[in-house]
Amino acid sequence: MVVPGSQHAEDKMYHPPEGLQKDAHVPDFNCYLELYKKSIEEPDVFWKEVASDFYWKKPPTGHVLQYNFDVTKGNIYVKCMEGAKTNMCYNVLDRNVKDKNLGERVAFYWEGNSPDHHVAITYSQLLGQVCRCANVLKQMGVRKGDRVAIYLPMIPELVYTMLACARIGAVHSIVFAGFSSESLCERILDSQCSILVTADGVYRGEKWINLKQIADEALEKCKEKASATVKRCLVVKHHALRIKSGDVSNEPQTPWDAACDVCWEEVMGQVSEQCEPEWLDAEDPLFILYTSGSTGKPKGVLHTVAGYLLYTSLTFKYVFDHQPDDVYWCTADIGWITGHSYITYGPLANGATSVLFEGIPVHPHVGRFWEVIEKYRVTKFYTAPTAIRLLMKYGKEPLQKYDLSSLRILGTVGEPINPEAWHWYYEVVGQKRCPVVDTFWQTETGGHVLTPLPAATPLKPGSATFPFFGVDPTILNEHGEELEGEAEGYLVFRRPWPGIMRTVYGNQERFENTYFKKFPGFYVTGDGCRRDKDGYYWITGRIDDMINVSGHLLSTAEVESSLTDHGAVAEAAVVSRPHAVKGECLYCFVTLKDCREFNRTLVDELKRQVREKIGPIATPDFIQNAPGLPKTRSD
Ligand code: WTA
Repeated sequence: MVVPGSQHAEDKMYHPPEGLQKDAHVPDFNCYLELYKKSIEEPDVFWKEVASDFYWKKPPTGHVLQYNFDVTKGNIYVKCMEGAKTNMCYNVLDRNVKDKNLGERVAFYWEGNSPDHHVAITYSQLLGQVCRCANVLKQMGVRKGDRVAIYLPMIPELVYTMLACARIGAVHSIVFAGFSSESLCERILDSQCSILVTADGVYRGEKWINLKQIADEALEKCKEKASATVKRCLVVKHHALRIKSGDVSNEPQTPWDAACDVCWEEVMGQVSEQCEPEWLDAEDPLFILYTSGSTGKPKGVLHTVAGYLLYTSLTFKYVFDHQPDDVYWCTADIGWITGHSYITYGPLANGATSVLFEGIPVHPHVGRFWEVIEKYRVTKFYTAPTAIRLLMKYGKEPLQKYDLSSLRILGTVGEPINPEAWHWYYEVVGQKRCPVVDTFWQTETGGHVLTPLPAATPLKPGSATFPFFGVDPTILNEHGEELEGEAEGYLVFRRPWPGIMRTVYGNQERFENTYFKKFPGFYVTGDGCRRDKDGYYWITGRIDDMINVSGHLLSTAEVESSLTDHGAVAEAAVVSRPHAVKGECLYCFVTLKDCREFNRTLVDELKRQVREKIGPIATPDFIQNAPGLPKTRSD
């Protein structure tokens, strides 16, 4: 990599503002280069220093990182801080409250779907609620290693539950609350969850979604498909009542089964606010999070305690240049990896104050994001290109009503950001004062792997720039040969960093086949990538059967199979089509069975079918009749 200068006029670079550089953790590019070199040449020294910030009940016994990345030499494994004992929840809460005296600091400003509903939660309060929830889970029979499915909207209880699991060594499996009952059922069964935590429902904008009913349907489906694994369901019963002031008479009823359902509001008051953390091995599992797989069946990406702690905390600190007086806001949903790493674990590990947002960008008006930034004086703001493109459509006006002068750093994640959206974000939202950190990463990587550092890296719009500390990328051609200098090909990594996934839950073979088989010795991201003459990395998009819709990866095979589940469809093929807001959208070809007619009603039915099988995010934009589909020959 070369030190970026201004010698190449055609790639205009945006240099960090001086005001930011003064107190930054990584104040300039040379500092980045030095630290990067250390992280690659002396990983033990580098990560031990990071680890020294945290509490270890027992220190590690060997090298910080041990691994095999070469399938020809045996099983793939990664171990971080082997031999050490610790607890994630202790490190992100007790350590802040007790050792750092941050008990009174606000951990989250929860901002509801409606601007009238908000509450501030301090670190002490958070610790108390998490301990209560941990005691409830224990009372319900949850033990270390058990899997807990969580199907909750963006309410504080979601954070309480995930941290409660982390506290007692249970493995959380959060399912985004926009997924269908079928998707929830599939995920519950795959990891044999013993408990499901859900809520009565949620308002998304004006629309009420009865989550409990969807959860019940999922549990019914689990019973039909296998001997049910979920024994009890913990339900935040009164979320809707709590947020709905005034008339609640036409509130939809929450279905209730006294034999299985436990009411959150009742039991939380009956247990203690103290709960000893379970001291876990560094490599004990922390959570499973499902991501689309090219075969159609989602993969349960498994992350473990110590490595994920080190990596999410360090990336958060450096990429958002975290400072004690920051108010940070990541607009993702905790149901995705961005929320896991950069709403819950990374920020809390740093004692940060964050906004936890239940709403959507356009409710009750299209200036909602800007209103929230003004309300909390947000300094660091992290969102997705799809949200930026959506808000761009409404022009500058909604934004000009609010004071956004508190903003210091802007971030994006989830998909390549097109230059038009980048410039709007940089110029209109950030008023050319705020660096845009375009962070490339994946559910599998646990945290940012290619990213600018805001005070150090000159930016090129659309490039995720350079590797984070400990990350060793390269580009391969189809034959697995490494490409130097300016090049385009497969983005791979030569070695692990602490936060990389450890396996696909219950399926090591799939883990190795998906990520390590194509090019032995490398982790294969599935993304295409270009390196320019200055060494900047540019993600060019997926090079497998995955489509990135609004920053969410969808498997073409999964959508195809939900289409062919319909009685009228003989075959289906799904491809990507560019979309002005979503980036990409689904374009589906269907071949109908003999004597079935292609018409509007059928198209609507098929769209509904995909929505019900997978979830609203997978709704096809286009369905076209294709009396015959081209095939590749398979011998
Ligand atoms: C894409 C999301 C370009 C990429 C954190 C990756 C990006 C997939 C970027 C992972 C970015 C994510 N620029 N593409 N800054 N960030 N992607 O697992 O294709 O939901 O492989 O994790 O999103 O999606 P996932």
